[in-house]
Amino acid sequence: MIETITELDALRARVREWKRQGLRVGFVPTMGNLHAGHYSLVMLARQYADRVVSSVFVNPTQFGPNEDFTRYPRTPDADTAGLEGAGCDVLWLPTVESMYPFGVELASKVRVPGVSQVLEGEHRPGHFDGVCTVVSRLFHQVQPDVAAFGKKDYQQLAVIRQLVADLQFPIEIVGGGIVREADGLAMSSRNQYLGPDERPRAPTIHRVLLAMRDAALAGTPRAQVEAQGSRQLQDAGFDVDYAVVRRPDLSEPADGEPGPRVALVAARLGRTRLIDNLEF
Ligand code: PAF
Repeated sequence: MIETITELDALRARVREWKRQGLRVGFVPTMGNLHAGHYSLVMLARQYADRVVSSVFVNPTQFGPNEDFTRYPRTPDADTAGLEGAGCDVLWLPTVESMYPFGVELASKVRVPGVSQVLEGEHRPGHFDGVCTVVSRLFHQVQPDVAAFGKKDYQQLAVIRQLVADLQFPIEIVGGGIVREADGLAMSSRNQYLGPDERPRAPTIHRVLLAMRDAALAGTPRAQVEAQGSRQLQDAGFDVDYAVVRRPDLSEPADGEPGPRVALVAARLGRTRLIDNLEF
């Protein structure tokens, strides 16, 4: 049976007891409204740990003023049942008051420069400050040995890796592969915002990423690959924030330079902003 904990002292006591027994603790932070992608992270964490804690906390500090904080879907009963099915031991449910004891305005902030300032950082100013601030607090609360983050949020994973290295958290970070619907759409809590005329068009993002990969591997100059990707998305009715090819650290590669790459897209379909990526 999964145990739901809402008090920090109780969480700390549970984790202390596990560690006293020599058990390794895994952690999967989430904002709830869980789907197969989240559950795959719980199962991944299980491979690295004897016990798994997952948190559900819709973090106000990572949403911009015109973003979807208030309408972000909250489904606590389904989340609890799903986490139990995935093998999670403890569901940690902090309140806004316990996460930010001095209030959101007076909260100490954690900022990771560089990797958090490009792409999502340009289009969602302050977003990664909110993510790093809450993830640092969650790490202090849970004190895991290993934490799992999804590769769908590719840049978030890169930012968290830098945060952990820079602040020397003794936590191993593992990345879980993107889980897709049958038509290629990357699973996301925000997919449910898509209207009936938008949902069938949403997998275009994955098709465009595949085409960008193929063009890049065929030696097409990067600027052309990115322009083609943007155009294909616009032709399908998307408002494009970016469609780019980057090195794994998100810096810009030179044409002809060998090495692994990732194609990343962020684009809006109506009011829904979708992100996805493809490593190659
Ligand atoms: O990826 C998410 O769901 C959130 O950004 C996270 C890591 C739980 C922090 O609020």
